[in-house]
Amino acid sequence: MILLDGKKTSADIKEEIALEVSELKNQDKKPPHLAAIIVGNDGASLTYVNAKVKACERVGFESTLIRLTEKTTEEELLNEIAVLNVDNDINGFIVQLPLPDHIDEHKILMAIDPKKDVDGFHPMNVGKLALNLPTFISATPFGIIELLERYHIKTSGKNVVVIGRSHIVGSPMSILLSQKRKIGNATVTLAHSRTQNLETLTKEADIIVAAIGIPEFLKGNMVKKGAIIIDVGITRVADASKKNGFRLVGDVDFNAVKDKVSHITPVPGGVGPMTIAMLLKNTLLAYYRQEN
Ligand code: GUN
Repeated sequence: MILLDGKKTSADIKEEIALEVSELKNQDKKPPHLAAIIVGNDGASLTYVNAKVKACERVGFESTLIRLTEKTTEEELLNEIAVLNVDNDINGFIVQLPLPDHIDEHKILMAIDPKKDVDGFHPMNVGKLALNLPTFISATPFGIIELLERYHIKTSGKNVVVIGRSHIVGSPMSILLSQKRKIGNATVTLAHSRTQNLETLTKEADIIVAAIGIPEFLKGNMVKKGAIIIDVGITRVADASKKNGFRLVGDVDFNAVKDKVSHITPVPGGVGPMTIAMLLKNTLLAYYRQEN
């Protein structure tokens, strides 16, 4: 069994980006600049956003973190977005999700200038993705594609089962893998909570992408020998033996499948670290598109 090492791969990608940024700086060009808005004090969201900002610093990007209180109104958030949309110093920005209940997430994502939407969540960018046009592919699906590519995994003609139809992961993943592209050309089944006889489908799958958010959902009897498993789940499960009081658990029962599969992403250290690297890649892409 081969571990698909997202930690190492994301470090390689960040090193490549850092090299590109230092070349830009050598040419007296300003570096790419990513901004992130976070509303409220959710612990996991703050951890993610801080990791994104820190990653910017490591590769030589400029970064701006805008922290707004839980009580921020929708109008105030829309105003912040309007400012970033026209700020020529900012190449790309994200609004960390989830947002508090009193704010309409769709309205917020619609307000982001698609040219600066490095999360790839704006309907225009999602539409371009569906049509296989140049866009910003959102970080998690982009990271999975990149991981498969760097490990030389062939997807053409393979049976893929994607479990979970979220807008951020499952849906774009199923679209990308079925498209005519290097990592694509697969026969994709998008399974979800209403799918009947899921086990029959997964047992036939050459590649399984588990993205449903249920810890250790995919069991050993659900996979065929030699399958490739991508585990997108990262649920915090209470664990008194850990200093921070929790451990991260994927959607795959790792120990139950590990001796059967040919490749698998670990949790943590698989898909998770790739998402930050791909956000940086999208920011660099936004920078070049705006410079040219
Ligand atoms: N919340 C969980 N994942 C993401 C992400 O990729 N982008 C944003 N903006 N919020 C998230």
